[in-house]
Amino acid sequence: MSSLFTPFKLKDVTLRNRISVPPMCQYSAVDGVTSDWHAVHYAGIARGGAGLVIVEATAVSPEGRITPSCAGLWDDGQAEGMARIAAAIKSAGAVPGIQLAHAGRKANANSPWEGDDHIAPDDARAWETIAPSAIAFGGGLPRVPRAMTLDDIERVKADFVSAAIRARDAGFEWLELHFAHGYLAQTFFSAHTNQRTDGYGGDFARRSRFLLETLSAVRAVWPESLPLTARFGVLEYDGRDEETLSESIAITRHFVERGLDMLNVSVGFTIAETRIPWGSAFLEPIAARVRREAGLPVASSWGMDDPAVAERVIANGSMDLVMVGRAHLADPHWTYKAAQQLGVEKPSWVLPAPYAHWLERYQVQRRTAA
Ligand SMILES: Cc1cc2nc3c(=O)[nH]c(=O)nc-3n(C[C@H](O)[C@H](O)[C@H](O)COP(=O)(O)O)c2cc1C
Repeated sequence: MSSLFTPFKLKDVTLRNRISVPPMCQYSAVDGVTSDWHAVHYAGIARGGAGLVIVEATAVSPEGRITPSCAGLWDDGQAEGMARIAAAIKSAGAVPGIQLAHAGRKANANSPWEGDDHIAPDDARAWETIAPSAIAFGGGLPRVPRAMTLDDIERVKADFVSAAIRARDAGFEWLELHFAHGYLAQTFFSAHTNQRTDGYGGDFARRSRFLLETLSAVRAVWPESLPLTARFGVLEYDGRDEETLSESIAITRHFVERGLDMLNVSVGFTIAETRIPWGSAFLEPIAARVRREAGLPVASSWGMDDPAVAERVIANGSMDLVMVGRAHLADPHWTYKAAQQLGVEKPSWVLPAPYAHWLERYQVQRRTAA
């Protein structure tokens, strides 16, 4: 009996299995509006059997996009395309999720295949970047952001709320706030990047404030019956990991008090120089610790594309969901194939009926012929 292929219930939402496709930017939108590519991509991936498909980092404002080609939900025109994507994911039996984001000082970059670096300030596509403090990321992202005013902070929180309302009305059933990867929220929390001297910077409570207020404001408009989650970088691999991790677990407890239902455990990525121990399921012990000490369900990703590894991390209780990203780009039917590898006999557990019926017979036929 596979643990990976048992259903998972969070609030009123039940996933058909413990596999989620994490948010992965497609850099294929125009003015934040998604294209035919997005519909094809998300429908294809959902068809392959994952329980949850989370749509890519979707900017809550134009300035919050990582690149000019990132998806957005800052106006109603963008919501139409997103509603089609949510419906397509659902039609394939997966739960439609979406990640809402503001890229902060990492905004206004070229797409990965155009360099992944900041757009030059004299380029017509350039916009002003903002962050808690006027500190650049460095490397290919050298632009010094403008330190946010209190008005900016209020505006961005309101942008998250408006985008969450649009996501709700577009039919998404799972919302993930992007509090990770060196984007705006993560830079409020990290002492590396937040050197404010007002109520939003300084000690733990002040560095937590933007994240907690954003979460509470979104929770107030996101239905109680639907999961509200966050992706959060709980450590940086910068040599201060125990300190960062214990602060991260402390803020996660506050997230729970404010209605967070699950944490997607990730890396901070607020600094360029890190020693990340890339390798199979390297975040497993970290995710397990957050789950245990903060007392909430967790998901995580990075290097869990071997079905046996994915099965292990669920079976041993390290996490509640596994996020399998790039392997789903390589093969949208990764989940179905994982089910076969783990001996899950009935494809109907993972695939929509028009595929499951034939593939079940096909499997029997192949076994009989062998
Ligand atoms: C093309 C691409 C786009 C990504 N975009 C996002 C994103 O929008 N939001 C996010 O939180 N992570 C993003 N990530 C990170 C993935 O969600 C995931 O954590 C990462 O690919 C590691 O998981 P994997 O080893 O299963 O691929 C992206 C990764 C890739 C490869």
